[in-house]
Amino acid sequence: MADFQLAPSILSANFAKLGEEVDNVLASGCDIVHFDVMDNHYVPNLTIGPLVCDALRKHGVTAPIDVHLMIEPVDALVPDFAKAGASYITFHPEASRHVDRTLQLIQGEGCKSGLVFNPATPLDCLEWVIDKVDMVLLMSVNPGFGGQSFIPATLEKLRQARKIIDASGRDIRLEIDGGVKASNIREIAEAGADTFVAGSGIFGGANDADANRYDTIVQQFRDELAKVGS
Ligand code: DX5
Ligand code: ZN
Repeated sequence: MADFQLAPSILSANFAKLGEEVDNVLASGCDIVHFDVMDNHYVPNLTIGPLVCDALRKHGVTAPIDVHLMIEPVDALVPDFAKAGASYITFHPEASRHVDRTLQLIQGEGCKSGLVFNPATPLDCLEWVIDKVDMVLLMSVNPGFGGQSFIPATLEKLRQARKIIDASGRDIRLEIDGGVKASNIREIAEAGADTFVAGSGIFGGANDADANRYDTIVQQFRDELAKVGS
């Protein structure tokens, strides 16, 4: 089976118990912590910054933290997130004046770098910087909020991105973000994604009867992924 990774978006977690929430989703078998940073400028919402990333590391989280920057400008906060323990730092090309420079900055800080493409943004610039990219993140909703519906045109875009990545021969993760549920994760994987952000789909599926409240929902995601290609 392909190396599929689940990346719960903590945007839908209970922020009053964030450390415990992250411990619980990881204990249920999730792989990566997806960390949504919004600035009320690039997107119409405001969330969390490097202090919270650092707090999760100090709490003892050792899993990769995937920092999704929905901020403009980008560069000033990159060193701060690197110091705070980010593993991946991804950003939207529209939000940086100099995309190549920002990718170099992220890698120079010792993090993995990624580009995020909004639903209406073509993949064009990827061709010119693919040697500096470790992750491609396709937005399947417009960024800013959890709980929106998956935009179906993203499936065709995933197929395009998969071809570009495979042709490059590079080890690049293809992540999808927005509206991912147990009901559609299989077709998303079959279109080429290997890393799946899910906020409301995971945190909204808690079952208090489980020893770990996220066991059942995470197992449903895994069961669907096990059917890929069959
Ligand atoms: C949206 C964020 C997403 C969001 C996904 O701007 O980037 O990561 O939390 O939430 P769901 O899975 O509920 O669509
Ligand atoms: Zn995100």
